[in-house]
Parts: sequence; C-alpha cells; structure tokens
Amino acid sequence: MPSFTFVSAATAVVLRGGVPVFVDINPVSLNLDPAAVEGAITDATKAIITVHYASVGTGIDRLVTLCQRHGLILIEDAAHAVGATFEGQPLGSFGQMATLSFHETKNVISGEGGALLINDPELIARAEVISDKGTDRARFERGETQKYVWQDVGSSFRASELTSAFLLAQLEEQDAIVARRRELWARYHIALESHEIRGGLLRPNISQSCGTNGHIYYVLLSDEDKRRTLIDGLKAQGIHAVFHYVPLHDSPAGRRYSRTAGSMAHTVSIASRILRLPMHLGLTNVAVDRVVTALGETLGKPSDG
Ligand SMILES: Cc1ncc(COP(=O)(O)O)c(C=O)c1O
Repeated sequence: MPSFTFVSAATAVVLRGGVPVFVDINPVSLNLDPAAVEGAITDATKAIITVHYASVGTGIDRLVTLCQRHGLILIEDAAHAVGATFEGQPLGSFGQMATLSFHETKNVISGEGGALLINDPELIARAEVISDKGTDRARFERGETQKYVWQDVGSSFRASELTSAFLLAQLEEQDAIVARRRELWARYHIALESHEIRGGLLRPNISQSCGTNGHIYYVLLSDEDKRRTLIDGLKAQGIHAVFHYVPLHDSPAGRRYSRTAGSMAHTVSIASRILRLPMHLGLTNVAVDRVVTALGETLGKPSDG
C-alpha cells in the first residue's frame, strides 16, 4: 500500500494482525507505482491496497494484472473516487473489494461514514456477518434462519437510519455534485496554465483514460519553502490552503507497525511539495478567481526559504 495516504487503510491492516508494507508512488499520478509494487511482493504478501489519489485511476489496470499473476487480493481505497472512472469503468469495481468514504470532506457525505464494496460474491456472506456485530441477523431478517447468533468476530459497521437518509439525499445529487466540482477543477486548471508555463508550479497531469470527479485540485511546488511561502501568502488574504499526507512510514505509528519496501523518494518529495487549493461545493467562480490571483501574487514574490 502507499505511504502517501490517509491512515484508515493502514490501521485496518494492523487491527487484523497484518503488517502494512509501504511502496512508493508514481510522481505524476501520485498513485502506487506498479513496478515498485511488483518488486515488493513476497511469499507473505496477502493483498495490494491501492488509493485512487484525487480520483485518478492511473495504474489500476496494471495492478489488476499483477494481482491475477501473483494470486493476490486487490483492495481499492476509493475514498476520493466516488463517481470516477478508468477507461469508462467505475473506480471501486476493479478489485475484490473497495472502500468509499462519506466523511464530510468528500464529494458525497454523511458527516462520518463509508461503504465497503464487494465485487467477489464469495466474500459477501462473511462481510454481512462482520458488519453486524458478528451475527447472522441479516439472514434472520430475510427469513433465512429462525434466530440469529454470534458467528464471527464483528463490529458495528452499519450506518444508522438517520445517517443513511442523509446519505441517500447526497447520492441522489451525486451527478450534479461531480459536474459542479469538475467545473471548479477545470477553472483552476485553465487559470493556472500560465503559471505552469512560467515554471512557478506543476498542475495535475491526468491521462485521458481517467474520468475524474473534481474531488481535489492540487499544485506541486518546487520545494517545501516555496509551499510555506504560498500558504502564508494565501492565508494573509484569508484563503485557507492545506496539504497532506504526512507519509505514513514516517509517522510514529507507521514506524512501530509497518515497514517500507524500496525507496520512498517520490512519497517524501511529493508530500513536501503538494498544496491543495480550496475545493468544495459552495465555492463560487469568483472565489476560484480570487484564489488564483492571490496565488499569482505570492508566486511573483521571492521565496524567503
Ligand atoms: C485515501 C483516503 N482514504 C481514507 C480516508 C478516510 O476515510 P474515513 O475517514 O471515512 O475512514 C481518506 C480521507 O479522509 C483518504 O484520503
């Protein structure tokens, strides 16, 4: 799995007694580098967990082939990728399993929440039991058994009805949400082209095969000092721009519970140079233009780093 990601997937592995093995990303797609993944496979490898960073599916076809060749399970962390596609196929439908996030920062939200997508029918029955405190209550509710009992180690993973009702309304608006976010994304992208040409920053470079969902707009700066200057410059104009992720292999729990395989150079470099620009459904075109202007003004100033 990548180190350039959020902690949820790594923690899930550790909770079940596994060891997350971190592999470097491709510096263009910011997704797992399939060649580095192949080099990291050992007899102990059980699964590959990939992240579709910023809803970009680049590399998923190669990971599918790799998993088939090595008999491994493919799990997609599709937290960023609701409504996105690769070569026309929805992200989250390539691996045996995929996870979605409905955290408030995502495109489609329920406050907190998520979903497990299961593409292998053989895994469904057990997942149902695990999600419902380890019982076969779902079978009982379908009239398939007279009583429900403790079958497995589970937990309370089902969403409440209130959460589900909120989520349903969001899902019904998903196409409109994605369309608007894509508009905002494209507005940033066009407006920042001249800054890229002048060498001030790099914009996302996304292959034609990817149908993205506008979840994140990021730029890459030359170094961490330049990013700090930009964050401060934007902040001075009331604009909140953030970055992520602190590489998991370099975090306190990561050092305790996981290991790396191969170089982490791209992970470390990207994590120090990436800057996410404001992106949410309430953003107006005028606000995007204001961010771009503020960014241009700050880029024009010499970095104090
Ligand atoms: C790649 C990735 N996976 C998972 C998550 C978290 O999902 P949740 O908070 O629903 O576990 C995030 C962001 O919050 C993320 O960026």
